[in-house]
Amino acid sequence: MRDRWSSRTIFLFATIGSAVGLGNIWRFPYLTYKFGGGAFLLPYLIALIIIGIPLLIMEFALGQKFQQGIVGTFSKINLRLEGLGIATVMLCFFVVSYYAVVMAWALIYFFRSLHMTLPWTGIANSYFADKVLMQSQNIETISSINPLLLLGLIVVWMLIYFSIWKGVNSVGKILKVLIPVPGILLVIMLIRGLTLDGAMIGIYHYLKPSWNALLSTEIWIAAASQIFFTLSLGFGVMIAYASYNKKNENLNQDALITAVANSSISLFAGFVVFSILGYMATSTGVSVDTVVASGPGLAFVVFPQAISMMPWAPLFAALFFLMLITLGIDSAFSMVEGVTTVASDKFKISTEIVALVVCVFAFIAGVIFTTDAGIYFLDIVDHFLTEFGLILMGIFQSIAVGWIFGAEKLREFMNSVSSWQIGKWWNVSIKYIIPISLSLLFVSQFFAEIKSNYGDYPSWAITMGWLTVFIPFAIIVYYAIKSRKSIIQSS
Ligand code: TRP
Repeated sequence: MRDRWSSRTIFLFATIGSAVGLGNIWRFPYLTYKFGGGAFLLPYLIALIIIGIPLLIMEFALGQKFQQGIVGTFSKINLRLEGLGIATVMLCFFVVSYYAVVMAWALIYFFRSLHMTLPWTGIANSYFADKVLMQSQNIETISSINPLLLLGLIVVWMLIYFSIWKGVNSVGKILKVLIPVPGILLVIMLIRGLTLDGAMIGIYHYLKPSWNALLSTEIWIAAASQIFFTLSLGFGVMIAYASYNKKNENLNQDALITAVANSSISLFAGFVVFSILGYMATSTGVSVDTVVASGPGLAFVVFPQAISMMPWAPLFAALFFLMLITLGIDSAFSMVEGVTTVASDKFKISTEIVALVVCVFAFIAGVIFTTDAGIYFLDIVDHFLTEFGLILMGIFQSIAVGWIFGAEKLREFMNSVSSWQIGKWWNVSIKYIIPISLSLLFVSQFFAEIKSNYGDYPSWAITMGWLTVFIPFAIIVYYAIKSRKSIIQSS
């Protein structure tokens, strides 16, 4: 018997927990600020409706219908699609191997917050590079592993392992903590943020609409890729999660709830981030534009610095990093579940063992990111996987469903189990709009990429980045053209 979620609420906790992660804190607020403030919400909403929700419904429907992870699902649709499943699982594995390292940074910061004065006060920038990462000059200089980071990574992997080791049963229990805790912390941070001097200036910069921005193509690209990333699409994670539902769960609504909850939390997080940035700018007498940042620079440099200027700094630093950890860890373990689901479909061994093997291997794969050149590797792998690898999977997955399985067939299934009936527009979205818009996204990013040398890294490093895209691609092609006979023999 397949494992089942203990309730519909727990399933929704799991999907929301996966979707809400670092991207909601360090990507969405920054993109909004950068691409037209309030005006960005328009392309964002459009991308949500025509790409995000249809793809999420598609993943839920596949998982529920086929009752398997992504490899089993796509090979049931057509054996030649098995490679698409395998490639996706590989990507998922690599992403979680560095996502866990970011969690380890947060863990280190959390423990270092527990002091009377924050150790990075006034030196947040060099503190991150020298005292946390022990960063080397450049990617070519790798001399040692950072023992503290390695220890942090081991702890993170233990947290992940013990969240998932009993499959969806243990996941369900842990989510009862991992959903409310960061929610409460976010509210506390918002109240703190809004009561600081300059908060309103920050928020003004966050949402001040500049409608002209809508005329640039960049803003539409940013919106589409953010939607894709924030809903955890294209990893097979949502397929895996939905495969633990009974076949007849109300999936259309569940997708809608997940999407709305995730975007609301993003919008909310923006208020937290920008009220505190506004405070920092005001108290140092600079403009918000000079303090704003995204990615690790926001969470591990600018924010720690801003917090160090507030009253009760250590308390709020600890709360902030606890929030990052609790928000991120359920995204991290959902990726692991994407992999373990596939492995336990295939090999009939206990979940505990499968999960252990996956966690140990992903930990080992992540050790490179704990070296002194680790951040450079992390930056490159993240760039290529999220800007290209994932989008490619999204293109293939929507084509596979839209054209090979048949969009209409899947739509009939979805509607037969759901109370909210999806119209024929969904077929158009899956067959045309999604593959075309994601392909445009891919091509435009590709040209931008070859024009500039990403991060000024040496060419071997860039080649390595491209390999993370080409190897999965080659696997997809190989399985697709392998003759029927050999496919049947090998399975
Ligand atoms: N949605 C997560 C975030 O916003 C990140 C993410 C992208 C993810 N793809 C995923 C998480 C797949 C889990 C599975 O931070």
